[in-house]
Amino acid sequence: MKLTILGAAGVRTPLMIQSILRRQERIGIDELVLMDIDGERLELIGAITQPLELSNEMRFRIQRTTDAAEALKDADFVIATFRVGGIESRRIDERVPLNYGVLGQETTGPGGFAMGMRTIPVLLKYIEQMRQLCPDAWMIDFANPAGMCTEALTRVGGWQRSVGICDGPVEILRLAAAVLKAPMDEISLGYFGLNHLGWIRSVRYQGREYLGEIIALLRQTGGVGGLNIAADLIASLGMIPNEYLYYYYYRRQSVENILRAERSRGEQIAALNLELFEQLQRCRARGDFEGMRQAYFRYLDQRSSSYMQVETGRAPVHGDLERLAAEIAEGEGYAGVALDLIEALVGYKPRQMLLNVPNRGAIHGMSDEDVVEIPAFVHRNAVEPLAVGVVPDHCLGLMKQVKAYERLTVEAAVEGSYQKALTALAIHPLVADYELAKRILADYQREHGAWFPTLR
Ligand code: G6P
Ligand code: MN
Repeated sequence: MKLTILGAAGVRTPLMIQSILRRQERIGIDELVLMDIDGERLELIGAITQPLELSNEMRFRIQRTTDAAEALKDADFVIATFRVGGIESRRIDERVPLNYGVLGQETTGPGGFAMGMRTIPVLLKYIEQMRQLCPDAWMIDFANPAGMCTEALTRVGGWQRSVGICDGPVEILRLAAAVLKAPMDEISLGYFGLNHLGWIRSVRYQGREYLGEIIALLRQTGGVGGLNIAADLIASLGMIPNEYLYYYYYRRQSVENILRAERSRGEQIAALNLELFEQLQRCRARGDFEGMRQAYFRYLDQRSSSYMQVETGRAPVHGDLERLAAEIAEGEGYAGVALDLIEALVGYKPRQMLLNVPNRGAIHGMSDEDVVEIPAFVHRNAVEPLAVGVVPDHCLGLMKQVKAYERLTVEAAVEGSYQKALTALAIHPLVADYELAKRILADYQREHGAWFPTLR
């Protein structure tokens, strides 16, 4: 089995390699290809796991390359995890709308639009290569905005073997498992929505419904770290929203918080990255692999402990529930989701997962081709969306609106249409203003330069 990672110079790759190693037998891997357009950074990030790669524990080959064709040839699984334009582009994505008092965030609002505009053409180019080089491969999309990108892959690229993944829903599952003191595998989450726009309306374990009790517990404890939505709001909704719904339910507050902060999240991460790469270079120069490893884990710790702090303006709450969650955490995050999926697809272990796939009738009111984030049953070479049924009107309404924006963005990116790009931004619920949309779009075009598609 050959697994290819596109964008492998990213900071998540060492974790990915660890997880692949842990599961090498289960997924039957014999070749891992790490591809990135930045060969220098690929080597630098690669040096972190070098001791691991030299150990005789590893029974698959690792190849690093900047050549996409070589990487994709005969691949069985392709993971897309690149950030077109790098972290600097995230800074622009976020800062431009903030200048107009509109949310500036990686995936939600105009930031997601700009990221989609840059990412989709690149993804579709890879798909063209894959048609020749690995026509049966599965495309697993980590690249954000994951829902919109998966929509481009399936609807425009026609690549039916595409699945978009996110670690968000799994984190909720982890929390539920901690509260119920139950194994994650045995809990079934009733979850529906779009990527970064979903709700949990059921938590079942051993044939019983537990959501009501979990909500009551959240109210009692006043919430839990990492979940920034008030327990009272959760109780009123009768559902637990995905953390990204914070930007909708706290529309003004989130913008105010970010504006008040010294740096946006993208700016914060740009600084963290810079520091990490300097440390890695210094350590590598003196052959200090332990130093590299330590710098890397310090970085991950800083990044995860500051997650969503700028946006919510809060210090992490160290409640009891969080301690519980930490206790049973498997610590595989993103990589765990990708590998669970691959394990199921190779036929090692069928499982139910929360994935981004075409709706095909699952949620009433959404079109068959709309990519939604829902439970799906994954087994050998197949991903089958499970029925969700009717969902509350206020959720469906928001999903339809955001889906229309996503579809327009995909079309704008593919066709290079100015009109569609502008309309996409103007109808986004967090913009909802034609004049603002025009200015934001103009700034993106100017500041992103060649990374942004040319619009006519
Ligand atoms: C979560 C989301 C990802 C997103 C990431 C951003 O994990 O599911 O889609 O990219 O957060 O985290 P960051 O540390 O970059 O702000
Ligand atoms: Mn995500």
